[in-house]
Amino acid sequence: APVTQPTSVKPTLLNTVFSYAEILSLLQGQDDEWLFSRAKLATELEFNQQVYLRGIVEFSNHCRNHCHYCGLRTENRQVTRYRLSNEEILNAVDSIAELGLGTVVLQSGDDFNYSGNRISTLITEIKRHHNLAITLSLGDRKHQELEKWREAGADRYLLKMETFDRALFAQCRPKANFDERIARLNYLKSLGYQTGSGIIVDLPGMTDAILARDIQHLSELQLDMLACGPFIAHHQTPFTTSPNGSALKSHRVSAILRLMNPGANIPATSSLDALDKGAREQALKRGCNVIMPSFTPTKVSGDYSIYPGKNQQQHPAAERLNQVCQQIQRHGLIPSFSRGDSKRTQYVS
Ligand code: 5AD
Repeated sequence: APVTQPTSVKPTLLNTVFSYAEILSLLQGQDDEWLFSRAKLATELEFNQQVYLRGIVEFSNHCRNHCHYCGLRTENRQVTRYRLSNEEILNAVDSIAELGLGTVVLQSGDDFNYSGNRISTLITEIKRHHNLAITLSLGDRKHQELEKWREAGADRYLLKMETFDRALFAQCRPKANFDERIARLNYLKSLGYQTGSGIIVDLPGMTDAILARDIQHLSELQLDMLACGPFIAHHQTPFTTSPNGSALKSHRVSAILRLMNPGANIPATSSLDALDKGAREQALKRGCNVIMPSFTPTKVSGDYSIYPGKNQQQHPAAERLNQVCQQIQRHGLIPSFSRGDSKRTQYVS
């Protein structure tokens, strides 16, 4: 089916509304040239060629979950587990601030060893010393903790569904609670967090039909941050023999998401890079507007092995940031050191 081509993106401040059939046809590559050029234009108009940088600190790779795709699943005894101390975390945050970035992302496995109070203390400390936006990506924590962290000054929260298909979710994330995770996303929004979610493209068992509905669900939630990246098989997981996902399909997803959610922040994920050198950069021309270089201390960063190829670099953070900035500039884009808040609310009717 031919895709309806809107005559303008920015001037009307309207989100493009695609039907299920249109999304499906775009996912299957029926109109790549149109899709990618519209997504590029929409991204450039919205963000003035700027790419927001986030410094991410992956402070613990302990995880209580059993996700079949992830190398950090609790059953994986081959990974060396680590937990950073508050001091180590705050040192990493200091270097993010010193290099001038506007946002720190604190991420870990679902590790309840870090109590709600301890995370609150970290947030308070960061806000006391730095003018940084704080994004949390700490998994399924209690509503009361999410509330306390918001009060302490956390700005944003990322909680990826990985898929919105109930049956596929159950196959990939045993013992995880689908409804509670969706409820948590809505609760985060009600607390005033800039809220994000996302999907893994080409998860084993994911069809184009599921992916099209995932894109619809993600967009219906009216989120500030949307993420997609290709599945990468990890040899120490039950999905070891499943085929890797496609970078091109992930690009189609980010482009469709951009057109449906013009003001949202959409990262070019590192799984793109792990799959195919150059695919992450290319994503910046296909709807993505955020890059998140890792500031996890190199002595442990290699153990944050969600999928193979993650955090391979052993160069110092400053050097890697420089490289990322050069990549961005090579594409005629501008690395931005601002907070880079979501622009979604400009579109909400
Ligand atoms: N391939 C690609 N992405 C993965 N993630 C976890 N495991 C994989 C994998 N095997 C993504 C999930 C998670 C994020 C931190 O990494 O989306 O939320």
